[in-house]
Amino acid sequence: MDKPRLLVTRRLPDAVEDRIRRDYDAMLNPDDMPLETDSLLLMAQGKDALLPTLTDRLDAEVIAELPETVRIIATFSVGYEHIDLKAAAARGIVVTNTPGVLTEATAEIALLLMLGAARRSYEGETLLRSGHWEGWTPTQLMGQQLTGRRLGILGMGRIGQAVARMARAFGMEVHYYNRTRLDTALEDGARFHEGVESLLAVSDVFSLHCPLTPDTKHFLNAERIALLPDGAIVVNTARGPVVDDGALIAALRSGKVAAAGLDVYENEPRLDVRYRDLPNTYLLPHLGSATVETRNAMGFKALDNLDAFFAGNAPPDRVA
Ligand code: DGY
Repeated sequence: MDKPRLLVTRRLPDAVEDRIRRDYDAMLNPDDMPLETDSLLLMAQGKDALLPTLTDRLDAEVIAELPETVRIIATFSVGYEHIDLKAAAARGIVVTNTPGVLTEATAEIALLLMLGAARRSYEGETLLRSGHWEGWTPTQLMGQQLTGRRLGILGMGRIGQAVARMARAFGMEVHYYNRTRLDTALEDGARFHEGVESLLAVSDVFSLHCPLTPDTKHFLNAERIALLPDGAIVVNTARGPVVDDGALIAALRSGKVAAAGLDVYENEPRLDVRYRDLPNTYLLPHLGSATVETRNAMGFKALDNLDAFFAGNAPPDRVA
């Protein structure tokens, strides 16, 4: 049997590309150029499957233009808000994602952001690298200690639970809001809140772990920021648009929010430039899943889904 014809939109880790070359008649993107829609549609001609990433916008219009041959889209990401699932389903195109394998890496980045924001890492590193450090002083760059602080987690899925576990090791008291309460064993002492308002009110550190949906867009707005304790820390490893940038920037300027650790932004990579000018932000370029282990596992998961589909089986991570 001929190998399925696959379009891979971005360069993937070597181990993943080796497996792709072995099992698929693949068009790869060795130069890793982000594909404009026109190029993507052109390259999709004659393909059976697409392996895109979150940088490819597969909205209803693009999906409508995909060639008839395309039967499955296996995204190299756990998030799938860049794909119009309804439009795909309407065309009978299967969509899969890569859940479960980003959990630890993303939780680690959330902890890094928490520590980086709380301990003023950006200011410290800037002082040192600029050559202006004149030595230790008793009052230099004093930040906040995580130990004993209350961590509020919005969205207690796999990543939220991993963050809770790691935060407990720092002596933090964990609170959470989730659509459904976890069972006691999974809660492991975390305190459930029936509503987001009471969660915000106790969140010395507030960490976002919800998917981006029409309901969560700009969730963290001025009204909700006002509910946080004064001097709270905000961490976002979920999706940029969950935060209203204008509101968070105003709060960072006023000191209502003492510091923010951000890995994701609205309109990536063109983040709101005002974040860059604020000393009380600790910013990373969407590195949540960027470990060798995790990126390999994401690629293998996308391929497991494609393999199952082309073997006539149900892909394990089907979302549409
Ligand atoms: C995803 O897979 O959705 C992540 O944001 C990538 O880091």
